[in-house]
This record gives sequence, C-alpha cells and structure tokens, in this order.
Amino acid sequence: MQATVLSGPQVHIAADYLTLCEQVASRIAGIVRSKPNAVLGLATGATPVGVYRLLAEMHRSEGLDFSGVTTFNLDEYYPMSPDSPHSYHRFMDEQLFAHINCRRWNVPDGRERGMDEIEADCRRYEQAIHDAGGIDLQILGIGQTGHIGFNEPGSDAATRTRLVTLDPVTRENAAEGFGGIEHVPHRAISMGVATILDSREIVLMATGRGKADIVQRTLSGPVTSAVPATLLKRHTNTHFWLDTDAAHFLDR
Ligand code: F6R
Repeated sequence: MQATVLSGPQVHIAADYLTLCEQVASRIAGIVRSKPNAVLGLATGATPVGVYRLLAEMHRSEGLDFSGVTTFNLDEYYPMSPDSPHSYHRFMDEQLFAHINCRRWNVPDGRERGMDEIEADCRRYEQAIHDAGGIDLQILGIGQTGHIGFNEPGSDAATRTRLVTLDPVTRENAAEGFGGIEHVPHRAISMGVATILDSREIVLMATGRGKADIVQRTLSGPVTSAVPATLLKRHTNTHFWLDTDAAHFLDR
C-alpha cells in the first residue's frame, strides 16, 4: 500500500480488489464508530460491492452499528420503479441494507412524474443532505466517460441534484445488465458535482484495467467539466483508491 500526492487527491494503490475493499470498508467503519450519526454518500455499480459485503460482515460478526447512520445514494435511473430488478433502490437493499441495521437510507426517486415534481424532489434531496448535517464520507466509482455519480461530460462544478441525460457510452456499458441497450433508460437523477464536492471526505474507487485509461486522464489531465472526475482535484480531502490494474498507466 502506498500513498502519493498528485496535484490534490491522495492516491492509494492496493495489490488487489479484496485489499482495496478492506481498506475502504475499514475507513467507513472507523467513521461509523467515531461518529454514530455519520452521514454516508453511497454509490452503486460493481466497484463498491465488495465494500458492502465487508460492512455487512462487520455488522454480523462485530456488531458494527448503523442504527444512527443516514445514507444518501448518488443516483437512480429515470424512469425507474424502486421495485424493478434494475433499480438502484433495489440494488442497495440487496447488497447492503437488507444485511445491516441502517434505517435511514435514501436513493433518489426514479418514479415517472412531471418535471415540476422532479425538480421539487431534487431540491428536497439536497435539503435532506443539508439537514442531516452534510455528507461525512462520499464513496464514488468512475465511469469510462469520467462521470462521477451520473454527472456526465459537460457537468460543471456548480451542478446539484437534477435530471440528467446519460452519455451513450454509459448506456452501452449498462446494456448487458438490462438485456440490451434498448432497455437502458436515457436519463437518470443524480446528485451534482457541487453536492459531491460539499462532502467532507471523498473516496473514489477504481478497479481493473478497463478503468486505467480514465484514471490516468483524470489524475494527469487538466481540471475540466469535459472529464467531471477531474473536478475532484479542487477538493482538499479526496482519496483515489485503486488496484494495480486501474493504476496501470500512472507514472509512479
Ligand atoms: C453509480 C454511479 C456511477 C458508477 C460508475 C462506475 O451509483 O454513480 O458513477 O460508480 O459508473 O460503475 P462500476 O462500478 O459498475 O464500474
């Protein structure tokens, strides 16, 4: 394990996925132990699944207590029923919340409704994060487009929770899980870049060779909304947790 300071974010490289997940889970557990009413920002996707499994194990075997914790997920497809097998609501229930004692968990509402209602709900989501005391630790993955949450290229540092249009690359990457690209929604509701940057600590996880190129472009390239993950370089407490494959193109 090594830590390198690269223009802002601290970069940690773990030998493999399990070690990476152990490090991130242990950071989350540390926060939950020292602040029982901690507020966590959570991500879906393949990357954090191992972390959620470890947190569930810690709850079971060590009694890690989530009863005072509040969580806010980054995003949800739109339109999307919470009961759908493709919903992030269901994903979080199955991967984490069915296995721990956290009762205050929030995922943006993907149910189909009018634009006014969506905008009011997005404002309420932001307000709920604020009322909970702000996010102590935000977990992120990174998309091939450089998206964080579903903040696709073009999302600037002032964006807040809103309805967004998914990049074609993101839809292609999701196609297999949906049984074909024609079934992947074109839109989603996502926290904004500003919402993410308000977090007190940010942990971006990336694993596998498929992420090596975007990780390199993010860490070595200029800060630009064309690659939204580069906007994290403006945050003073951001950590990139990578396995050796995702770190492949980094100049040590
Ligand atoms: C998920 C999310 C996305 C994913 C990203 C990486 O809530 O907001 O930004 O983190 O697309 O996805 P995986 O982990 O499946 O490679």
